[in-house]
Amino acid sequence: MKKGVIILGSSNSNGETFTVSKYLSDKTSYQIIDLKSKFIQPFDYEFNNSNDDFLPLINEIVNNYEIIIFATPVYWYTMSGTMKIFFDRISDCLKTEKETGRKLKGKEMAVLSWGSDKELKNGFYMPFIESANYLGMKYVGEVHCWLKDNDIPEDVEHQLNTFATVVLEIDKKHMKSKDPLYARFLVQFTRPFPDFDFPFIKKVRQKAAKLLNLKKGDRIIDAGCGSGGSFPYLINMIGHTGEIIGIEISPQTIKNTNKRITKNNWQNIYVIEADAKTVKLSGSFNGLLMFAAPDVYASEQALSNIFPHLAVNSKVVLFGAKISKKRFGWILNGALRLVFSIFSSSTPSLNSEPWHILENRLLNFQVEEYFFGWMFIAHGSVAK
Ligand SMILES: Cc1cc2nc3c(=O)[nH]c(=O)nc-3n(C[C@H](O)[C@H](O)[C@H](O)COP(=O)(O)O)c2cc1C
Repeated sequence: MKKGVIILGSSNSNGETFTVSKYLSDKTSYQIIDLKSKFIQPFDYEFNNSNDDFLPLINEIVNNYEIIIFATPVYWYTMSGTMKIFFDRISDCLKTEKETGRKLKGKEMAVLSWGSDKELKNGFYMPFIESANYLGMKYVGEVHCWLKDNDIPEDVEHQLNTFATVVLEIDKKHMKSKDPLYARFLVQFTRPFPDFDFPFIKKVRQKAAKLLNLKKGDRIIDAGCGSGGSFPYLINMIGHTGEIIGIEISPQTIKNTNKRITKNNWQNIYVIEADAKTVKLSGSFNGLLMFAAPDVYASEQALSNIFPHLAVNSKVVLFGAKISKKRFGWILNGALRLVFSIFSSSTPSLNSEPWHILENRLLNFQVEEYFFGWMFIAHGSVAK
């Protein structure tokens, strides 16, 4: 997964700043998030606006990206109002959403500006640089663009290409250092044993597979399938006429998954190396399993990408770790948080209801807790 994102702050979603953001997006494969398409209100000292789109958006950004490129047109010698409102709202992360704010620390910031004039007045980038300093982010640079005869002039194009190259170099560095620990250690360690699974987890997998209510011939998505620990239980239910599509982001893990598939001679399991947020699926499926896959079940973007492919009434089952609310559960909550962050640096941090965003999408939603409230299985059916 690419580690950067372009935050577009123009008053025109298809205007000139979009054109140049698109140019950069094509070079880097970074997603563009258009602030104009979001409902984000100005900063409020009473925080009465906490239900608008800002908090889900900033959480999506801090949990998924390391390089944030702010793309703004020049409006009256400064950044656009849309962009300024977004910056003002970052103040929420210093007051009510401190955990989110802390996650900005160490991330990289860059700016893409677009104006009708080639020249920018002094200090245009100062608010970005100072905000980055204040938030503990690293300001990595900027590029200014302008139009000539309604076209991107050659020197601007040249600058943009250099900018894209620099950003992609930084991206590469993040890809290497942020590889989750399980991809570097556990996956290497278990590679010679394709059928390896933790004994205590086998029973939970069996239960999760059963809850999917599958029948012979069904098609199922195993999102975040890892090395395929759930495959034996799923294939038991769908038989050899059904189909399992595994989605896994880590190429290292997929090496193990493929070994497991080959060893068991499964002909109807296909693994796609992709991010669940952007994976391209085809056809309709009769179930969705997200086993120990918080990057998927806690991501609005991943769910919105997958759900259109689920048949009405098909079952969705998720299993994962959570913070315990039981009487003495708090004793190990800190340790669990630590283990979780070491093993998977890109995943959203743990809370007591990680199924929260799925709950509204499913009918007959039910949750069962395990292991003193530190693990859960949740399930429900896809509504019309
Ligand atoms: C309200 C407003 C103020 C602007 N002020 C400036 C300015 O101070 N300096 C400048 O170079 N261009 C200025 N422009 C021109 C825009 O920066 C330029 O047209 C840009 O391409 C618009 O990008 P957009 O299509 O994404 O809105 C202004 C445009 C608008 C609408």
